[in-house]
Amino acid sequence: MKVKQLISLSLLGLVILGSCGPEAPKDAYVPTKATLKEPGDNSGVAVKTDDSKGKGKFTNVALTNPLDQKMVAGGKAQYAVKCGACHKLTEEKLVGPGWKGVTERRKPEWIMNFITNTDEMIDKDPSVQALLEKCIVRMPNQHVSDDDARSLLEFMRNNDGVK
Ligand code: HEC
Repeated sequence: MKVKQLISLSLLGLVILGSCGPEAPKDAYVPTKATLKEPGDNSGVAVKTDDSKGKGKFTNVALTNPLDQKMVAGGKAQYAVKCGACHKLTEEKLVGPGWKGVTERRKPEWIMNFITNTDEMIDKDPSVQALLEKCIVRMPNQHVSDDDARSLLEFMRNNDGVK
């Protein structure tokens, strides 16, 4: 049997095994150290954590309106090369969750942080841990540049029907 066949067979196995639907909560609230304290300890009360933007350098992503078609095309090309093996554009899971609706479940900052800071996000974001449990496979770091990540986000918005 050829290596390629072996790989697609094992991917098939994973697809059957896993059931990682697009169920990740939009703004999962998970108590952090700052919120889990000894009674009477008021330190850190003012600490506000915003897990919904994920972990990474993107804290404020400016969205285009209408879509930037050049970025959509760039994102589509990236998708074909680096993402399509594991992500469908429908809701259907392949190795990872289908992308339909991902821009509604996740904030733009979260998506860009996840694409560019995949390992830390998988390790630290509770909603990804839940996905990982369902998908079994850990998404590998795809070495995507910031610009390419932005284009991928535009392509995802296009896929979600944004004009
Ligand atoms: C080897 C398979 C694989 C490849 C290639 C891959 N991913 Fe993933 N992706 C996953 C898995 C599996 C998950 C679910 C989290 C986990 O288990 O690590 C995921 C999760 C995601 C999520 C979160 C989805 C959600 O519903 O919350 C986004 C966004 C994402 N990937 C984007 C990308 C982008 C962009 C690329 C290409 C640059 C890519 N992925 C390439 C496997 C992959």
